[in-house]
Amino acid sequence: MTDHPLVQMRGITKRFGGVTALQDVNLEAYAGEVLAIVGDNGAGKSTLIKILTGVYQPSEGEIFLDGQPLEMASHSDAIAQGIDAVYQTLALADHLTPAANMFLGTELTRKVAGIEFLDNRRMKSEAARVLDERLGVRLRSMDVTTDSLSGGQRQAVAIARAVYHEDLRVLVMDEPTAALGPQETARTLKLIKALREQGLAVILISHSLDDVFEVADRVHVQRRGRRVGVVETANSTVQEVLGLIVGAPANDAA
Ligand SMILES: Nc1ncnc2c1ncn2[C@@H]1O[C@H](COP(=O)(O)OP(=O)(O)OP(=O)(O)O)[C@@H](O)[C@H]1O
Ligand SMILES: [Mg+2]
Repeated sequence: MTDHPLVQMRGITKRFGGVTALQDVNLEAYAGEVLAIVGDNGAGKSTLIKILTGVYQPSEGEIFLDGQPLEMASHSDAIAQGIDAVYQTLALADHLTPAANMFLGTELTRKVAGIEFLDNRRMKSEAARVLDERLGVRLRSMDVTTDSLSGGQRQAVAIARAVYHEDLRVLVMDEPTAALGPQETARTLKLIKALREQGLAVILISHSLDDVFEVADRVHVQRRGRRVGVVETANSTVQEVLGLIVGAPANDAA
């Protein structure tokens, strides 16, 4: 972990009409760490990361990358800065192979006698290489359609696409294990750790404090639109974080 945050949100407020979804929220994420964001339903977790990924613009507040202010008018502006998000409901084409999904719109080609052909063999080997080397994921076969993959494998394909095409520095995952069984969850947590080892800042939104304490370095706790605490998993407990989430007074001996 470096001593300056890679990405920093300062004084973020977001209003939707009369609803204040976020009130004066700060967030810091460092290169080479996993930062979890936890909080009850409606605490503002998704809104916060949609602002970080350029999907929403804040009503007030600023975002800095490497200490430089970021102006983001759209999600593609965030991608251009190396900030992206992967959702469980991924934009994958079900009837295409993992490799075709990874190279959708950016197909690799080769020329034979001056004529351009799709280089399917290289796309397949590149896709397999990125999945294996960057994410530690090996699919049983690359010659399958994406709808036959498990939820965790589909997620890996979507992350591999971002890792391959973008100079990815900050990856946000909103509830990546919510629909996964125990084995797939373990694989996804392993993949998150691999990305951390490669120096990314991984921001993980999760309702599972087991997952959070397994994989995260620090935990940002949201409650009713505000950040109510940041703890290090090494120096905290599930009980302490739960207390922050529900707003219980600390050490209340009632
Ligand atoms: N597009 C929107 N228009 C109006 N209100 C919104 C919009 N998006 C979010 N909100 C409100 O902002 C608040 C925070 O919502 P948000 O989705 O960020 O919560 P969350 O922490 O992600 O919750 P969950 O755990 O249920 O996913 C809620 O009160 C929600 O109703
Ligand atoms: Mg949410």
